[in-house]
Amino acid sequence: MTRDLVLDGWATARANVNIALVKYWGKARASTPDEANLPAVPSLSLTLAGLYTETSARFAPELDADRVTLDGQLLVGEELTRAVALLDALRRTSDLAAPFDVVSTNHVPTAAGLASSASGMAALATAAGRLAGLDPARPDDALLLSRLARIGSGSGARSIFGGWVAWDGPAATPIAPADHLPVEVVIAVVSKGRKAVGSRDAMNHTARTSPYYGPWVAQAHANFDAAVAAVRARDFEAICHAMELSTWRMHAAGMAADPPVFYWQPASLAVLREVEAARRDGIACGATLDAGPNVKVFCRPVDAAGLAGRLTSIPGVEHIFRTTPGEGVSVTIHNDPPRRTDAPEGSPQPHGAVPTGTERP
Ligand code: PMV
Repeated sequence: MTRDLVLDGWATARANVNIALVKYWGKARASTPDEANLPAVPSLSLTLAGLYTETSARFAPELDADRVTLDGQLLVGEELTRAVALLDALRRTSDLAAPFDVVSTNHVPTAAGLASSASGMAALATAAGRLAGLDPARPDDALLLSRLARIGSGSGARSIFGGWVAWDGPAATPIAPADHLPVEVVIAVVSKGRKAVGSRDAMNHTARTSPYYGPWVAQAHANFDAAVAAVRARDFEAICHAMELSTWRMHAAGMAADPPVFYWQPASLAVLREVEAARRDGIACGATLDAGPNVKVFCRPVDAAGLAGRLTSIPGVEHIFRTTPGEGVSVTIHNDPPRRTDAPEGSPQPHGAVPTGTERP
């Protein structure tokens, strides 16, 4: 199919972060670059409002190689390699050769305790893809953008779409919109005792050395199917139950690796105990942790303020952050160049120079 390329000017895309309820933890074997980050297990996520990456891109035939700036700093190392892998895949699929000039800004406050690799790769795929004629409003193009984002960061595949999103193959697919059911996510950011191992290294290490990795993979589809059915049925308690099962099982597989992948801090466990106590008090809620010590608690909006209040008083909880379901990617085309700004107040610093991945709390 012939596509309308945007040869002059910029495309600017916005993508929100997402949180997995059912976890992606393990990769299928890849024999070509386009098979990077294919998941060994299906996952289910919720895209979040207001926590996003904004990325502008243009074709830059005058450059020798892709140039990617994140929060005012040139990307280098592993982070640049991931971005270039995504852009290479786009060039292959669109039969293009030109380098891209990319300017990206994270609007994911450090206080939220969330990493921005998923929103970053989804925004990059969408901005560069728009130049190559891909429009996220077209369902087939959105799937292609999801495949491309996945090549940069597995969980990025899900951030192309809003609301409740399933991922079990080359691309993610939306299963229910952001307003499907009323939910809030209360994020308890806890003190970080040591630098966490990045998710990419940690899941590969778990697959190589944990005797529980095989069982983790074997149970994943049943867990995923139960979660998807619960979302479709708007059964909030069943959603929380499936989410917690996936969380404990992912972390158990990691903890059984050699050496263990152990993300929890004492305050993480204190938050989990408080979530149990809240449930005993009749509040429907469920907790999850990713590759870091921060705890994300799903609850109904009516309970969010009370729950946030309970978690604030726990020693070691540094911040409480509240958020709601969010929309999928959006993109515009324009001629004026984006502002090359420094990191916005409260945003994480770019992490391209860090050799071993970053934590995705
Ligand atoms: O896509 P990555 O490399 O950021 O890995 C994400 C791993 C988890 O956050 C722990 C789980 C998930 O499905 O997002």
